Amino acid sequence: MKFENKDIFIAGGGSGIGLALAGRFLAKGSRVTVFDRTLDQTRLQPLLDRAGDRLRTVKLDVTDEKRVVSEFKKQAGRSSPDLIVNSVGVVSAVDFMNLGLEEFDRVVRVNLYGSRNVARAAGTILQPGSRLALVASLAGIVGSYGYAAYASSKFAVVGLAQVLRMEWKPRGIGVSVICPPEVETPMVDYERSIRPAVVGALKAFAGTLTVDEAVTGIMSGLEREKFLIIPGFRAKFTHLLSSYLADSLQHRIADGIVKKALQGR
Ligand SMILES: NC(=O)c1ccc[n+]([C@@H]2O[C@H](COP(=O)([O-])OP(=O)(O)OC[C@H]3O[C@@H](n4cnc5c(N)ncnc54)[C@H](OP(=O)(O)O)[C@@H]3O)[C@@H](O)[C@H]2O)c1
Repeated sequence: MKFENKDIFIAGGGSGIGLALAGRFLAKGSRVTVFDRTLDQTRLQPLLDRAGDRLRTVKLDVTDEKRVVSEFKKQAGRSSPDLIVNSVGVVSAVDFMNLGLEEFDRVVRVNLYGSRNVARAAGTILQPGSRLALVASLAGIVGSYGYAAYASSKFAVVGLAQVLRMEWKPRGIGVSVICPPEVETPMVDYERSIRPAVVGALKAFAGTLTVDEAVTGIMSGLEREKFLIIPGFRAKFTHLLSSYLADSLQHRIADGIVKKALQGR
């Protein structure tokens, strides 16, 4: 799919990866509707200045299913979207025994139920030839230290995307799941302020991308209509290792990194 002159919805388009994707689609001449819980004007204003009425913004919490369905229907009234991206997400990075049920619930509610609600709303408005893309994470393919809530939610998003791909193919609707490694966004700024050092040590294996690098990889995968999109060479390599290396060897590599990081703290 080429992204010139298309209609695109981006949930979570008010920050980070979603915002950068919105900028790329607008630069290609598409019309973008951003749905986000906060709609931070300092982040969105430069895009609004450049894009004018090709950019619409809608305040929306994706955990509210009824509102997601009604807002998507309302915004699709003018023209049905060619692509819907869900880039909403929240992170938690803490040892499992320090992870309370409330925090686990918050992360799963936004990441998994939010993806579910966006997919549900997308399923009511997408037409043949269009596509849904759910942003999961490399942590949705390879579990990692400190990510009990985050990885659980993202593994589930990957599972949801696999089911939707199969169910919607006969309807002519494509599905992608995007699994980036660490990307320099406000989410990661926050995560670095709270995470145990061992989380960073393990993530270094798969590398860190600038938001521009990540979005270039994501755009290329979407243009080629790929199902699994993993931006970044090191992240692709990590996925390859996790798919083809025996568990024993994978565990030895990961356990070695964890042991070294724990000794250093
Ligand atoms: N950055 C990374 O290293 C990385 C790596 C792999 C995957 N991802 C995934 O990529 C996606 C985008 O992450 P990002 O790094 O771009 O994060 P970000 O900069 O924090 O952007 C996420 C956006 O989602 C919004 N949001 C949070 N909860 C919401 C809700 N309930 N309803 C509507 N909007 C909500 C946030 O609003 P607030 O500002 O109000 O929270 C924010 O605008 C997420 O799914 C994340 O898990 C990120």
